[in-house]
Amino acid sequence: MSNTHPDFAERLLAWFDQHGRKDLPWQHPREPYRVWLSEIMLQQTQVATVIPYFHRFLQRFPTVQALAAAPIDDVLQLWAGLGYYARARNLHRCAQAVVELHGGSWPRDIDAMIALPGIGRSTAAAILSQAFGDRHAILDGNVKRVLARHAGIDGWPGLPAVQHKLWRIAESLLPQAPLAARMADYTQAIMDLGAQLCSSRKPACPRCPVSEDCVALRESRVSELPAAKPRKARPQRQAWLLLVENARGELLMERRPPSGIWGGLWCPPTVEHGADWRATLAERYGLSAGEAQALSPVHHGFTHYDLELLPLRLRARPDTAGRIADASAAWITMRDSAALPGLPAPVRKLFDAAYFSTPDLLSSPCPEPSTA
Ligand code: ADE
Repeated sequence: MSNTHPDFAERLLAWFDQHGRKDLPWQHPREPYRVWLSEIMLQQTQVATVIPYFHRFLQRFPTVQALAAAPIDDVLQLWAGLGYYARARNLHRCAQAVVELHGGSWPRDIDAMIALPGIGRSTAAAILSQAFGDRHAILDGNVKRVLARHAGIDGWPGLPAVQHKLWRIAESLLPQAPLAARMADYTQAIMDLGAQLCSSRKPACPRCPVSEDCVALRESRVSELPAAKPRKARPQRQAWLLLVENARGELLMERRPPSGIWGGLWCPPTVEHGADWRATLAERYGLSAGEAQALSPVHHGFTHYDLELLPLRLRARPDTAGRIADASAAWITMRDSAALPGLPAPVRKLFDAAYFSTPDLLSSPCPEPSTA
């Protein structure tokens, strides 16, 4: 891809010269072991937290050989507090690989670098560009945000197609001669731009050196880009809601167990969709019922799933309605249900919709089951 913004790098570097971070400990000297160590530590951790750990590691393990030769427990102990301990194990394995496979000097080839433990494409590029001035684009979280906004790239950057576009853009913006010699500064500059100005929450566009050709700014989409990860569809569940009426037009209500959804509230019996609700009624209450009349479903969103309640209006056979004796179930008139201490919101919604606003449902009892 050709460079469609020939002075992007020039503006960024001019900004960096004034405002960028030029006194980070791994910049003096910018030497591969130190740059690698800092990049691994910075993968999930902020600069201010990393700095004291960086000094302690260098003091204890001044060379990649010293780190490779150390017991893993010493490495883990010194890492304690930085979190994501897989990084520490990879750090140790990587040091050993550099010693064993590369004679203790860091490979200059990006693929050889990526083949080392704990080093992905962006980290490899960050190390090679900073330590050797090699021409490689980086694309960490900060840079993805900068580029998605500047080029107006839609889609979640975790998607391979979006990531591919962002890599191409990152490569197209690299500094050209004579600034091509400033790859180390350019890498630091684009990270600093993302961290200091083009932040996710409060971007400081008026101070941004590349705002004049920023697509997101021009289209007022800065807060929308980069696009968020698409939310997973919430699981959908269905349950029968058994509206069992007796000959007096009263409704069977249960008090739900204290734990679980609607714990302790009063509710008509619910049965998982697909289960044998006739068997459930018989087992729990010794009830059998006639024809089921399906009412309109009621939807309710819980934190982790959506529930569709499928109400079935049923008439209990009179001769079977004798086992509602304990305090956790009762025959209640529809009008009395309004006075129950707790009724789940969707059940309330259903009662309001199906019964109170449909007078004939209230006044006309559920058809008597045939005595087959
Ligand atoms: N995050 C990853 N690498 C970094 C660096 N060199 N400076 C600041 N933050 C970083």
